[in-house]
Amino acid sequence: MPELQPLKWENNRLILLDQTRLPGRECYLKISDYKDLVAAIKRLAVRGAPAIGIAAAYGTALGALETETDSLRLFKNRLNKVIGTLWRSRPTARNLFWALERQQKIIARGEGISRIREDLIREAVKIHQEQILSDEQISRFGAALLNDGGTILTHCNAGALATGGCGTALGIIKKAFEDGHPIHVMATETRPLLQGARLTAFELKRAGIPFTLITDSMAGTFMRQAKIQAVITGADRIARNGDTANKIGTYTLAVLAKEHGIPFYIAAPTSTLDLSIYSGKEIIIEERSAEEVTSFQGVKSAPKGIKAANPSFDITPHEYITAIVTEKGIVRGQYHTELARQVE
Ligand code: MRU
Repeated sequence: MPELQPLKWENNRLILLDQTRLPGRECYLKISDYKDLVAAIKRLAVRGAPAIGIAAAYGTALGALETETDSLRLFKNRLNKVIGTLWRSRPTARNLFWALERQQKIIARGEGISRIREDLIREAVKIHQEQILSDEQISRFGAALLNDGGTILTHCNAGALATGGCGTALGIIKKAFEDGHPIHVMATETRPLLQGARLTAFELKRAGIPFTLITDSMAGTFMRQAKIQAVITGADRIARNGDTANKIGTYTLAVLAKEHGIPFYIAAPTSTLDLSIYSGKEIIIEERSAEEVTSFQGVKSAPKGIKAANPSFDITPHEYITAIVTEKGIVRGQYHTELARQVE
């Protein structure tokens, strides 16, 4: 079965599969104004660290196509504003800034307007293709960790929908399953926006991989009953020392996994690494609207006028992480030297 395509570049437009409507409806947004893309990123129509990066790279190209001027200076000024707006769309995923930095370099060295437009499109396509290859490599390396099969718990959605390729954490699970290992998945629903229940369950069902959906709060019980053999999640940003930001609830799972002697793996492309920061303390955690906690899809589930907290991500300290899988291989501990070695 072909992978789901969360984003496609077609006739100078970005086509996004609106993930807020899944699994009920497969609706596509046709985006030609970069501001519509910014809104789509903010409301999670496109989401997952690598997919946000790819989308922002295409967004820069959209900004260039929209800008009509004969002045190279004005053109570049306007594109830098486009990049600034995309930059502020979400704060945590490193891939967003990594992709925009690549586009910034193209703008800075460009000497002609039409050439910059072409190069920005070409670079966005390249970033997208690199992610597809990267996912395949991550899946190949990571599947070796699951040779014994068993029940693998994953959190949020780190599949095709989150990356534009076959996925990172979910790519590994799919590859291990395809290789014939006896895999069962436990997918956490992932409060409050249910990326696990809506998106991971959708992908696993489509791929024919046996799985059980659980609520986030059930993980500890199943670990205690020895019903989970490994945990694999994706990442939004990984600091030099291996501390990892990922969907809220990941830290809880990592602590529980350690307590029960279960390996806890992170899977992410090197574009998620942020070697400019030493530890997870420096990662900005997105705080989203309280309404996402007090209601679901427009229906109230808590009394009106109450306070609710909604940090979208948490930090898992590196000592809870058994290994980090990237497209360059598997790093087990010694993250502060070994992660840098993968990219430098
Ligand atoms: O808020 P989201 O849905 O963008 O959060 C996504 C996650 O936390 C994923 O686990 C992470 O981006 C890795 S995706 C391969």
